[in-house]
Amino acid sequence: MYEQLTKAAQDLLKEHFDVSDASITWEKPQDAAHGDIATPVALQLAKQVGKAPRDIAQILADHLTDHPEVDRLEVAGPGYVNIWLAPAAFCSLLKEIRLACNPQEERKDEVPIVVEYSSPNIAKPLGVHHLLSTIIGQVTTNLHRHFGEPVLTVNHLGDWGTQFGKLYVAWQKWGEGDVTTKSLDELLELYVRFHNEAEKDEALDDEARDIFRQLEEGNEEIRAFWQTVVDISMKDIHALYDRLHVEIEYDHGESMYEDKMQPIIEEGKEKGVFKEGKGGALIAEFPEDTHMPPAIVLKADGSTIYHTRDLATIHYRMDRWHPRASYYVVGAEQQLYFQQLFHIVGQLEWDLPHLEHIHFGRMSFTDRKMSTRKGTMLKLREVLDEAVERATETIKEHGDAIQSDDPDGLAEMMGIGAVVYGIISQNRKMDIVFDWKKVLAFDGNSAPYLQYTHARACSIVRKAESDQDPEVPVCNELTEKDRGLINTLLQFPRALNEALEGNMPHVLCQYLFSLCQAFNAFYAAEPILKAENEQKDFRVALTALTARVLKTSAELLTLRVPDRM
Ligand code: ARG
Repeated sequence: MYEQLTKAAQDLLKEHFDVSDASITWEKPQDAAHGDIATPVALQLAKQVGKAPRDIAQILADHLTDHPEVDRLEVAGPGYVNIWLAPAAFCSLLKEIRLACNPQEERKDEVPIVVEYSSPNIAKPLGVHHLLSTIIGQVTTNLHRHFGEPVLTVNHLGDWGTQFGKLYVAWQKWGEGDVTTKSLDELLELYVRFHNEAEKDEALDDEARDIFRQLEEGNEEIRAFWQTVVDISMKDIHALYDRLHVEIEYDHGESMYEDKMQPIIEEGKEKGVFKEGKGGALIAEFPEDTHMPPAIVLKADGSTIYHTRDLATIHYRMDRWHPRASYYVVGAEQQLYFQQLFHIVGQLEWDLPHLEHIHFGRMSFTDRKMSTRKGTMLKLREVLDEAVERATETIKEHGDAIQSDDPDGLAEMMGIGAVVYGIISQNRKMDIVFDWKKVLAFDGNSAPYLQYTHARACSIVRKAESDQDPEVPVCNELTEKDRGLINTLLQFPRALNEALEGNMPHVLCQYLFSLCQAFNAFYAAEPILKAENEQKDFRVALTALTARVLKTSAELLTLRVPDRM
């Protein structure tokens, strides 16, 4: 790209300032008022050549003005050269955007990264808050894969803990029939009943703890019960993942590490990283300047805990996969926990990959009914079903404006997409607000708006009987709205990169929203099918490219978009 322009600028810098082979970068200003492309090279060279940046920029501007790729240019700010490209040069940039839509081939010879996400504590149905880790993790995975990076995905399931003891006790007391035929919701009822009864009768909790101890010791009957509950949970959870277009390759429960912790405990003691703390527990301490309290790695009664299992997990993944990096997509409330964990493995001097906690804020609801129902009681399945119902209503309300040969499929796509997009379009580092009105709106930064815009673009391409993915031809007469849409399309690689590098899906959503707006402004102002010759071909191709960028991005975000609606 811009090879000729780059070469011409380099020649000028050589001729006027005796700088050979200057490295010239071209930025795409986000604001169309700053041209189609811009270079800060004058600012970068000012010191070296001992001239004011604006003077250097002016020389470039004066001589590049007749360049065939340039329409007009200006010197701006402290010394930028802003360029408006000639139509042919401008249109040809769109090749890059077509390419950016294609996933790169996986680089199989490269060491992988591990992304760990979702990771619910099982034996209960997924709650709506589980969407955060599940979707942010899947989008992180999708983005890395889009760029050809090998990714392994892991679900670190909480499948080991006293909740199984409680459930077993409850089943013994109140369960009826064959446990293998029960649903996760029925198990939840037992669990809730246990909690209510345990408030009156403390002995129940002791009983549950004792059952869990027996499970750890290998009691066969309890183990079989545990396995049944795990199976019921996994079936239920995976059905939800399917609906969300989430795919996690490895379900590795915490239970898997039961026999892998002892050697690490020994190693930590030998290396002096684990010491005996107050009351006989084994702890790890941290340097004063970290301001972190000590972490327990083994309780006084010898039982292992969350930290111990995570240590074994890191070791296991290193041994098995030798990853380059390992990401943990987990809520911000576990920030201290992960800082401690990463510090401990540093002290153990393992040959570690890059370890990173991708954290996110809490979820809150504008709907009072939702915010007063506690924790997992707000089941993910119910929220998704409600979203699909509401989408069905919306589709009905819009009557003639929405037409689909598969209204149920469309409602599912829209409802689920709305909920997911509503979450992922917010900065994960802040608290995430869930608002029914916003997520289902047709005219905001929402999934329905994106889906509707995609369908509209597809319908134009269909009517033009054009190829779905045509190369964009040159158009020598570009209007302001044409230029606006081209400019926005050209921002796509930047948005993708930013979303990837910061693990920030909302950056891609913001971009999509601006693309929908640019497209709808273009659609409202310019004739497409009724344009003539060159202009018609060009605008249809631009429309097809817009549809492709929308679809590619939507799928990276785990959404689906309809071809018609
Ligand atoms: N199961 C945990 C929870 O629900 C999250 C697990 C996070 N991952 C980890 N490796 N600790 O809080």
